[in-house]
Amino acid sequence: MDKGLLKTGCKIFTDDKYIYFPTDANVKGKECLDLDFEQFDRNESYIEKLASVLPEDLIKEVHTFDSIGDIAILELQDKLIPYATKIGEVFLSTHTHFKTALCKAGSLEGDFRTRQYSHLAGEHRTSTIHKEYGLRFELDLKKVFFSPRLATERIRIARLVQENENVIDMFCGIGPFSISIAKYSNPKCIYAIDLNPDAIYYLKRNIELNKVSGIVPICGDAKKEVLDIPSADRIVMNLPKFSHKFLDSAIGAMKEGIIHYYTIVSEGEEDKCEAFIKQQARLKGKEASILQKINVKPYAPHSYMAAYDIKITFLVPRSF
Ligand SMILES: C[S@@+](CC[C@H](N)C(=O)[O-])C[C@H]1O[C@@H](n2cnc3c(N)ncnc32)[C@H](O)[C@@H]1O
Repeated sequence: MDKGLLKTGCKIFTDDKYIYFPTDANVKGKECLDLDFEQFDRNESYIEKLASVLPEDLIKEVHTFDSIGDIAILELQDKLIPYATKIGEVFLSTHTHFKTALCKAGSLEGDFRTRQYSHLAGEHRTSTIHKEYGLRFELDLKKVFFSPRLATERIRIARLVQENENVIDMFCGIGPFSISIAKYSNPKCIYAIDLNPDAIYYLKRNIELNKVSGIVPICGDAKKEVLDIPSADRIVMNLPKFSHKFLDSAIGAMKEGIIHYYTIVSEGEEDKCEAFIKQQARLKGKEASILQKINVKPYAPHSYMAAYDIKITFLVPRSF
Protein backbone atom coordinates (compact mmCIF):
# COMPACT_ATOMS: atom_id res chain seq x y z
CA MET A 1 0.00 0.00 0.00
CA ASP A 2 2.89 2.27 0.93
CA LYS A 3 4.34 1.81 -2.55
CA GLY A 4 0.99 2.22 -4.32
CA LEU A 5 0.99 -1.42 -5.46
CA LEU A 6 -2.02 -2.71 -3.58
CA LYS A 7 -5.28 -2.75 -5.53
CA THR A 8 -7.94 -1.19 -3.37
CA GLY A 9 -11.51 -2.43 -3.40
CA CYS A 10 -10.50 -6.13 -3.34
CA LYS A 11 -10.23 -8.44 -0.33
CA ILE A 12 -6.86 -9.91 0.69
CA PHE A 13 -7.24 -13.64 1.42
CA THR A 14 -5.23 -16.56 2.79
CA ASP A 15 -5.04 -20.31 2.45
CA ASP A 16 -3.03 -22.55 4.76
CA LYS A 17 0.22 -21.66 2.96
CA TYR A 18 0.05 -18.11 1.59
CA ILE A 19 -1.44 -14.64 1.87
CA TYR A 20 -2.69 -13.32 -1.47
CA PHE A 21 -2.50 -9.57 -2.13
CA PRO A 22 -4.42 -8.02 -5.06
CA THR A 23 -2.14 -5.76 -7.12
CA ASP A 24 -2.66 -3.58 -10.17
CA ALA A 25 0.54 -4.75 -11.86
CA ASN A 26 3.24 -7.37 -11.51
CA VAL A 27 5.42 -6.78 -8.46
CA LYS A 28 9.16 -7.07 -9.07
CA GLY A 29 10.74 -9.94 -7.16
CA LYS A 30 7.40 -11.56 -6.21
CA GLU A 31 5.50 -14.40 -7.79
CA CYS A 32 2.33 -13.03 -9.43
CA LEU A 33 -0.74 -15.13 -10.21
CA ASP A 34 -3.86 -14.38 -12.20
CA LEU A 35 -6.63 -14.71 -9.59
CA ASP A 36 -10.14 -13.42 -8.99
CA PHE A 37 -10.43 -11.43 -5.78
CA GLU A 38 -13.67 -10.83 -3.95
CA GLN A 39 -14.70 -7.17 -4.15
CA PHE A 40 -15.37 -5.07 -1.09
CA ASP A 41 -18.96 -4.08 -0.77
CA ARG A 42 -18.42 -0.52 -2.05
CA ASN A 43 -21.19 1.91 -1.39
CA GLU A 44 -22.49 1.83 -4.95
CA SER A 45 -24.77 4.81 -4.62
CA TYR A 46 -21.75 6.87 -3.46
CA ILE A 47 -19.77 5.85 -6.54
CA GLU A 48 -22.76 6.44 -8.82
CA LYS A 49 -23.47 9.86 -7.36
CA LEU A 50 -19.80 10.86 -7.59
CA ALA A 51 -20.14 10.47 -11.35
CA SER A 52 -22.38 13.56 -11.36
CA VAL A 53 -19.74 15.77 -9.67
CA LEU A 54 -16.38 14.31 -10.76
CA PRO A 55 -14.66 13.63 -14.09
CA GLU A 56 -14.77 9.89 -14.71
CA ASP A 57 -10.99 9.36 -14.45
CA LEU A 58 -10.99 10.82 -10.91
CA ILE A 59 -13.72 8.61 -9.45
CA LYS A 60 -11.32 5.72 -8.84
CA GLU A 61 -9.05 8.09 -6.87
CA VAL A 62 -11.71 8.53 -4.15
CA HIS A 63 -11.43 5.78 -1.59
CA THR A 64 -10.27 5.85 1.98
CA PHE A 65 -11.70 7.74 4.90
CA ASP A 66 -11.28 7.57 8.67
CA SER A 67 -14.31 7.64 10.89
CA ILE A 68 -14.05 9.30 14.27
CA GLY A 69 -17.46 9.17 15.91
CA ASP A 70 -19.94 10.73 13.49
CA ILE A 71 -17.20 12.67 11.67
CA ALA A 72 -15.69 11.30 8.45
CA ILE A 73 -12.20 12.39 7.50
CA LEU A 74 -11.74 11.95 3.78
CA GLU A 75 -8.33 11.40 2.23
CA LEU A 76 -8.25 13.62 -0.83
CA GLN A 77 -5.25 13.88 -3.10
CA ASP A 78 -4.36 17.29 -4.58
CA LYS A 79 -6.18 16.62 -7.85
CA LEU A 80 -9.44 16.06 -5.93
CA ILE A 81 -9.25 19.29 -3.89
CA PRO A 82 -11.17 21.41 -6.48
CA TYR A 83 -14.08 18.97 -6.03
CA ALA A 84 -13.73 18.64 -2.23
CA THR A 85 -17.02 20.26 -1.21
CA LYS A 86 -19.02 18.30 -3.77
CA ILE A 87 -17.35 15.02 -2.72
CA GLY A 88 -18.13 15.82 0.94
CA GLU A 89 -21.79 16.49 0.13
CA VAL A 90 -22.14 13.29 -1.89
CA PHE A 91 -20.37 11.36 0.86
CA LEU A 92 -22.77 12.57 3.56
CA SER A 93 -25.84 11.97 1.41
CA THR A 94 -24.80 8.32 0.92
CA HIS A 95 -23.29 7.62 4.38
CA THR A 96 -26.13 8.92 6.51
CA HIS A 97 -24.68 7.87 9.91
CA PHE A 98 -22.04 10.62 9.50
CA LYS A 99 -22.98 14.20 10.31
CA THR A 100 -19.79 16.01 9.25
CA ALA A 101 -17.23 15.49 6.47
CA LEU A 102 -13.75 16.95 6.90
CA CYS A 103 -10.43 16.56 5.15
CA LYS A 104 -6.95 16.88 6.57
CA ALA A 105 -5.38 20.30 6.01
CA GLY A 106 -1.78 19.70 7.00
CA SER A 107 0.25 17.22 8.98
CA LEU A 108 0.49 16.52 12.70
CA GLU A 109 2.26 19.44 14.31
CA GLY A 110 3.96 20.54 17.49
CA ASP A 111 4.24 18.85 20.87
CA PHE A 112 0.50 18.23 21.02
CA ARG A 113 0.50 16.33 17.67
CA THR A 114 -2.65 18.10 16.44
CA ARG A 115 -3.57 19.11 12.90
CA GLN A 116 -5.90 21.45 11.04
CA TYR A 117 -8.94 20.20 9.14
CA SER A 118 -10.99 21.75 6.34
CA HIS A 119 -14.74 21.50 6.54
CA LEU A 120 -16.27 19.84 3.47
CA ALA A 121 -19.93 19.34 4.32
CA GLY A 122 -22.44 18.85 7.11
CA GLU A 123 -22.38 20.25 10.64
CA HIS A 124 -19.60 22.72 11.38
CA ARG A 125 -17.87 20.99 14.27
CA THR A 126 -14.75 19.02 15.14
CA SER A 127 -15.94 17.46 18.42
CA THR A 128 -17.57 14.06 18.63
CA ILE A 129 -17.79 10.83 20.64
CA HIS A 130 -15.91 7.88 19.17
CA LYS A 131 -16.85 4.29 20.07
CA GLU A 132 -14.23 1.54 20.24
CA TYR A 133 -14.34 -1.94 21.85
CA GLY A 134 -17.31 -0.99 24.03
CA LEU A 135 -15.68 2.29 25.16
CA ARG A 136 -16.62 5.87 24.36
CA PHE A 137 -14.10 8.65 23.79
CA GLU A 138 -15.15 12.28 23.65
CA LEU A 139 -12.73 14.58 21.86
CA ASP A 140 -12.23 17.67 19.76
CA LEU A 141 -10.10 16.83 16.74
CA LYS A 142 -8.70 20.34 16.46
CA LYS A 143 -7.51 20.41 20.08
CA VAL A 144 -6.20 16.91 20.71
CA PHE A 145 -4.59 13.96 18.96
CA PHE A 146 -6.69 10.87 18.29
CA SER A 147 -6.21 7.97 15.87
CA PRO A 148 -8.90 5.30 15.36
CA ARG A 149 -6.25 3.18 13.61
CA LEU A 150 -4.60 2.23 16.92
CA ALA A 151 -7.67 0.42 18.29
CA THR A 152 -6.10 -3.04 17.83
CA GLU A 153 -2.92 -1.92 19.60
CA ARG A 154 -4.85 -0.53 22.58
CA ILE A 155 -6.76 -3.74 23.12
CA ARG A 156 -3.58 -5.80 22.65
CA ILE A 157 -1.78 -3.82 25.36
CA ALA A 158 -4.81 -3.85 27.69
CA ARG A 159 -4.87 -7.66 27.53
CA LEU A 160 -1.16 -7.90 28.43
CA VAL A 161 -1.49 -5.94 31.67
CA GLN A 162 -1.27 -8.18 34.76
CA GLU A 163 -3.18 -7.81 37.99
CA ASN A 164 -1.79 -5.25 40.43
CA GLU A 165 0.68 -3.65 38.02
CA ASN A 166 1.65 0.00 38.21
CA VAL A 167 1.26 1.38 34.69
CA ILE A 168 2.48 4.69 33.28
CA ASP A 169 0.87 5.99 30.08
CA MET A 170 3.55 8.60 29.29
CA PHE A 171 1.72 10.35 26.43
CA CYS A 172 -1.89 9.52 27.22
CA GLY A 173 -3.80 12.02 25.04
CA ILE A 174 -7.52 11.74 25.73
CA GLY A 175 -6.87 8.37 27.42
CA PRO A 176 -7.59 5.54 24.96
CA PHE A 177 -4.72 3.33 26.23
CA SER A 178 -5.29 4.14 29.93
CA ILE A 179 -9.06 3.67 29.73
CA SER A 180 -8.80 0.41 27.73
CA ILE A 181 -6.37 -0.91 30.36
CA ALA A 182 -8.62 0.21 33.24
CA LYS A 183 -11.61 -1.42 31.58
CA TYR A 184 -10.12 -4.71 30.43
CA SER A 185 -7.41 -5.44 33.07
CA ASN A 186 -7.01 -5.02 36.76
CA PRO A 187 -3.90 -2.92 37.42
CA LYS A 188 -3.10 -1.28 40.76
CA CYS A 189 -2.84 2.19 39.25
CA ILE A 190 -2.45 3.92 35.88
CA TYR A 191 -0.59 7.23 35.84
CA ALA A 192 -1.75 9.04 32.69
CA ILE A 193 0.47 11.95 31.66
CA ASP A 194 0.03 14.52 28.90
CA LEU A 195 1.47 17.94 28.17
CA ASN A 196 -1.72 19.17 26.47
CA PRO A 197 -4.27 20.55 29.00
CA ASP A 198 -7.09 19.88 26.52
CA ALA A 199 -6.07 16.22 26.34
CA ILE A 200 -6.21 15.98 30.15
CA TYR A 201 -9.62 17.71 30.13
CA TYR A 202 -10.97 15.03 27.75
CA LEU A 203 -9.17 12.26 29.64
CA LYS A 204 -11.14 13.25 32.77
CA ARG A 205 -14.40 13.41 30.78
CA ASN A 206 -13.69 9.97 29.31
CA ILE A 207 -12.89 8.43 32.70
CA GLU A 208 -16.38 9.55 33.79
CA LEU A 209 -18.06 8.56 30.54
CA ASN A 210 -16.68 5.01 30.78
CA LYS A 211 -17.09 4.71 34.54
CA VAL A 212 -13.53 3.44 35.07
CA SER A 213 -11.35 4.01 38.12
CA GLY A 214 -7.69 3.76 39.11
CA ILE A 215 -6.42 6.37 36.62
CA VAL A 216 -4.42 9.36 37.90
CA PRO A 217 -4.43 12.18 35.29
CA ILE A 218 -1.26 14.31 35.29
CA CYS A 219 -0.82 17.40 33.10
CA GLY A 220 2.87 18.01 32.47
CA ASP A 221 6.07 16.96 30.73
CA ALA A 222 6.43 13.17 31.02
CA LYS A 223 10.22 13.47 31.36
CA LYS A 224 9.78 15.37 34.62
CA GLU A 225 6.54 13.84 35.87
CA VAL A 226 7.85 10.25 35.89
CA LEU A 227 10.38 11.30 38.53
CA ASP A 228 7.56 11.92 41.04
CA ILE A 229 5.48 8.77 40.62
CA PRO A 230 6.01 5.25 41.98
CA SER A 231 8.17 2.87 39.99
CA ALA A 232 6.27 1.33 37.06
CA ASP A 233 5.84 -2.30 36.05
CA ARG A 234 4.73 -1.28 32.56
CA ILE A 235 5.05 1.89 30.51
CA VAL A 236 3.21 2.83 27.31
CA MET A 237 5.13 5.28 25.11
CA ASN A 238 2.86 6.36 22.28
CA LEU A 239 4.61 9.40 20.85
CA PRO A 240 6.09 7.70 17.77
CA LYS A 241 7.95 10.63 16.24
CA PHE A 242 9.72 11.70 19.44
CA SER A 243 9.55 8.74 21.85
CA HIS A 244 13.30 8.09 21.38
CA LYS A 245 13.95 11.31 23.34
CA PHE A 246 12.09 9.85 26.34
CA LEU A 247 13.28 6.24 26.35
CA ASP A 248 15.97 6.94 28.96
CA SER A 249 13.35 8.51 31.29
CA ALA A 250 11.04 5.53 30.84
CA ILE A 251 13.81 3.05 31.63
CA GLY A 252 14.69 5.15 34.68
CA ALA A 253 11.05 5.15 35.81
CA MET A 254 10.98 1.38 36.38
CA LYS A 255 13.10 -1.14 38.22
CA GLU A 256 12.27 -4.05 35.96
CA GLY A 257 9.24 -4.32 33.68
CA ILE A 258 7.86 -3.94 30.18
CA ILE A 259 7.94 -0.90 27.90
CA HIS A 260 5.64 -0.60 24.88
CA TYR A 261 7.74 1.66 22.71
CA TYR A 262 6.11 3.16 19.58
CA THR A 263 8.57 4.63 17.14
CA ILE A 264 9.13 5.43 13.47
CA VAL A 265 11.49 3.02 11.75
CA SER A 266 13.07 3.59 8.34
CA GLU A 267 13.11 0.46 6.20
CA GLY A 268 16.48 -1.24 6.54
CA GLU A 269 17.34 0.58 9.78
CA GLU A 270 15.80 -2.00 12.14
CA ASP A 271 19.22 -3.02 13.54
CA LYS A 272 20.04 0.62 14.32
CA CYS A 273 16.77 1.00 16.21
CA GLU A 274 17.35 -2.16 18.28
CA ALA A 275 20.92 -1.09 19.04
CA PHE A 276 19.60 2.28 20.28
CA ILE A 277 17.09 0.58 22.61
CA LYS A 278 19.77 -1.68 24.09
CA GLN A 279 22.23 1.17 24.48
CA GLN A 280 19.65 3.34 26.30
CA ALA A 281 19.09 0.48 28.77
CA ARG A 282 22.82 -0.11 29.34
CA LEU A 283 23.30 3.58 30.12
CA LYS A 284 20.85 3.07 33.00
CA GLY A 285 22.57 -0.14 34.19
CA LYS A 286 19.83 -2.31 32.69
CA GLU A 287 19.33 -4.79 29.93
CA ALA A 288 16.68 -4.54 27.20
CA SER A 289 15.33 -7.68 25.53
CA ILE A 290 12.97 -7.20 22.62
CA LEU A 291 10.04 -9.55 23.18
CA GLN A 292 8.13 -8.59 20.08
CA LYS A 293 8.14 -6.03 17.28
CA ILE A 294 4.95 -5.19 15.41
CA ASN A 295 4.73 -3.21 12.19
CA VAL A 296 1.71 -1.07 13.16
CA LYS A 297 1.11 1.01 10.03
CA PRO A 298 2.90 2.79 7.19
CA TYR A 299 4.18 6.23 8.15
CA ALA A 300 5.80 7.66 5.02
CA PRO A 301 7.35 6.12 1.92
CA HIS A 302 10.09 3.78 3.24
CA SER A 303 9.26 4.17 6.92
CA TYR A 304 6.63 2.73 9.24
CA MET A 305 5.36 2.98 12.79
CA ALA A 306 6.54 0.06 14.90
CA ALA A 307 5.59 -1.16 18.36
CA TYR A 308 8.43 -2.72 20.36
CA ASP A 309 7.55 -4.69 23.48
CA ILE A 310 10.74 -4.38 25.50
CA LYS A 311 11.58 -6.27 28.67
CA ILE A 312 13.80 -4.28 31.03
CA THR A 313 15.86 -6.16 33.62
CA PHE A 314 18.84 -5.28 35.79
CA LEU A 315 22.20 -5.93 34.15
CA VAL A 316 23.67 -9.09 35.63
CA PRO A 317 27.32 -8.35 36.55
CA ARG A 318 29.66 -10.61 34.59
CA SER A 319 31.63 -13.09 36.69
CA PHE A 320 35.24 -13.62 35.67
C1 LIG B 1 0.62 10.55 19.38
S1 LIG B 1 -0.28 11.30 20.68
C2 LIG B 1 -0.85 9.84 21.54
C3 LIG B 1 -2.02 10.07 22.43
C4 LIG B 1 -2.69 8.79 22.96
N1 LIG B 1 -1.74 7.89 23.55
C5 LIG B 1 -3.51 8.10 21.91
O1 LIG B 1 -3.23 6.95 21.58
O2 LIG B 1 -4.47 8.70 21.41
C6 LIG B 1 1.02 11.88 21.72
C7 LIG B 1 0.57 12.70 22.90
O3 LIG B 1 1.76 13.05 23.64
C8 LIG B 1 1.59 14.33 24.19
N2 LIG B 1 2.95 14.85 24.52
C9 LIG B 1 3.86 15.37 23.69
N3 LIG B 1 5.00 15.69 24.35
C10 LIG B 1 4.79 15.34 25.66
C11 LIG B 1 5.58 15.40 26.83
N4 LIG B 1 6.82 15.91 26.81
N5 LIG B 1 5.05 14.93 27.96
C12 LIG B 1 3.78 14.44 28.01
N6 LIG B 1 2.99 14.37 26.93
C13 LIG B 1 3.48 14.80 25.76
C14 LIG B 1 0.81 15.11 23.14
O4 LIG B 1 0.12 16.20 23.72
C15 LIG B 1 -0.12 14.01 22.61
O5 LIG B 1 -1.37 14.03 23.25
